[in-house]
Amino acid sequence: MAQRRFLVTSALPYSNGRLHVGHIAGAYLPADTYVRFLRARGEDVRFICGSDDNGVAALMTARERGQSVEELTAFYNARQKADFEGLGIRFDIYGGTHQPDFVELHNRISQDFFKAIYDKGLFVKRTTEQLYDTQADQFLPDRYVKGTCYECGAKGAYGDQCEACGISIDPMKLIDPVSTVTNTRPVPRKTTHWYLQLQRLEERLRAWLESKREPTDGTPPWRETVLNFSLGQINTGLPERAMTRDLTWGVPVPLDDPDAAGKVLYVWFDAPIGYVSFTARLCQDVDGDWRTYERWWKDPDCRIVHFIGEDNTVFHALTWPAMLMAESTYQLPWQVVANAFLNIRFPGKEEEKISKSRGTAIWIEEWLQTFEADPLRYYLTAIAPESARTAFDVNAFITRNNTELLNVLGNFVNRTLTFANRYFDGHVPPAGERAAEDQAHLANVAAHAERVTQRLENLRFKAGLEEIMSLARVANVYFDLKQPWKQRKEDLAACGTTINVCIQTVRTLGTLMAPYLPFSAEKVAGMLRLDAAELLVWDRATHELPAGHALGEPAILFKKLEATEAS
Ligand code: 2FM
Ligand code: ZN
Repeated sequence: MAQRRFLVTSALPYSNGRLHVGHIAGAYLPADTYVRFLRARGEDVRFICGSDDNGVAALMTARERGQSVEELTAFYNARQKADFEGLGIRFDIYGGTHQPDFVELHNRISQDFFKAIYDKGLFVKRTTEQLYDTQADQFLPDRYVKGTCYECGAKGAYGDQCEACGISIDPMKLIDPVSTVTNTRPVPRKTTHWYLQLQRLEERLRAWLESKREPTDGTPPWRETVLNFSLGQINTGLPERAMTRDLTWGVPVPLDDPDAAGKVLYVWFDAPIGYVSFTARLCQDVDGDWRTYERWWKDPDCRIVHFIGEDNTVFHALTWPAMLMAESTYQLPWQVVANAFLNIRFPGKEEEKISKSRGTAIWIEEWLQTFEADPLRYYLTAIAPESARTAFDVNAFITRNNTELLNVLGNFVNRTLTFANRYFDGHVPPAGERAAEDQAHLANVAAHAERVTQRLENLRFKAGLEEIMSLARVANVYFDLKQPWKQRKEDLAACGTTINVCIQTVRTLGTLMAPYLPFSAEKVAGMLRLDAAELLVWDRATHELPAGHALGEPAILFKKLEATEAS
């Protein structure tokens, strides 16, 4: 198969806070798994992320802490980078929309993008009333107004989006608005902004989204949740959205107009352009020319895949594609993969939302001080909220580590390699005469490998992992059925055949698990004394290790965890 090209992005985290398990399950772990899979398949991939530094959230947090916003965003950018690194989530570049090394190119590309849409006449300049906090002496960014949602009646809806019903909110329409900066009722005041006329793009967006339901070119259909939500929004009509803000922190509005003075681009305008500007920055490093980003962003041969959390759906499946359509020289995303939120369940308590303020977040930084990355990667994929919310439960994490990773997968690898070490001098025994059940088992291994491939091609990460565990289970059944410990005494050659088949199965498991459990796969490579790069070649997952191949030292793949470790 000819090499394919993919540009994969994960939502840019705001750089005013740390990362918790919910973030990871949503936009980062599945993206990393996918990228590792594509690379193993030999595809040409760039994996892009970085912090979302602009906008008011960082500004407010910095103000609260008495820090400069530059200092704050630099700190969290570095923190996030370290957390991702610790989890084995390996981007090709981790940028930041206002980080010193990125801001210049980011501003330039964002401003060019804005001007292109402006020149096409898709903005309309309007003077409107917006909410102003007279005590703080500032216009209130949407996120800093709360009130009752005019659509679903939920209390505490934010001025940009209602978390209860998901709609994107017009803050002026919020019922009983309150400024979250000073807790006072804001007043309307006049200001001028540039609005993207989303309604003019509705029909194109609708046709494009409809084409993602059952694509005719064999590409995976988009998740129902993304399509239903986005098409539902179009059905109720897309409002004009202001793409500029009264703020000092962000990308200056690039217009020669006195009304643009002191204004910046809306953070949701410049943030997705971060995907582009970080790609350009990477191209600068790799090709010596940032302009080669066009090879990824403007060439229809490249597939653009955005991984996001459910709360970002409206921006990635509607606003961003609308911006791309309006700009007109970029291509549209090939996939927008959204996961639902991850809730949390503490022992003896009801499932609840992960909330920083209520102290229910499990921070990656702290987690990694106690646990290794792969068990968390395993658990977060096993409970991935792919179509609906699921809950993180520390006790379930421990149980699944012990009963699945350790007792099923780790056990099979361990018993096979320990046996080979002990009774075959650490070498792959000859395949000998393979009986029907040996052949059948190997055919089953190949069938599992094929199904894992299909699941991953179709972005069904949880299902792919289930196939791997199913393979580990049937492998244990095979081992038990053949009873090599008995065969050894009765028929050493037949025992060799069994262990040979088991070693081939370990090799296949090693390759298949690598996108999910990269650190453990590396250990398997070491135990098989196989070059890690060789183990990572997907198409060789079922290539057999030759008889006589010297194996490495067997070692424990997964540690048993005690419930106390989680407390
Ligand atoms: O929800 C968030 O965390 C946003 N910072 C995501 C931005 S994604 C992209 F558009 F940059
Ligand atoms: Zn609502």
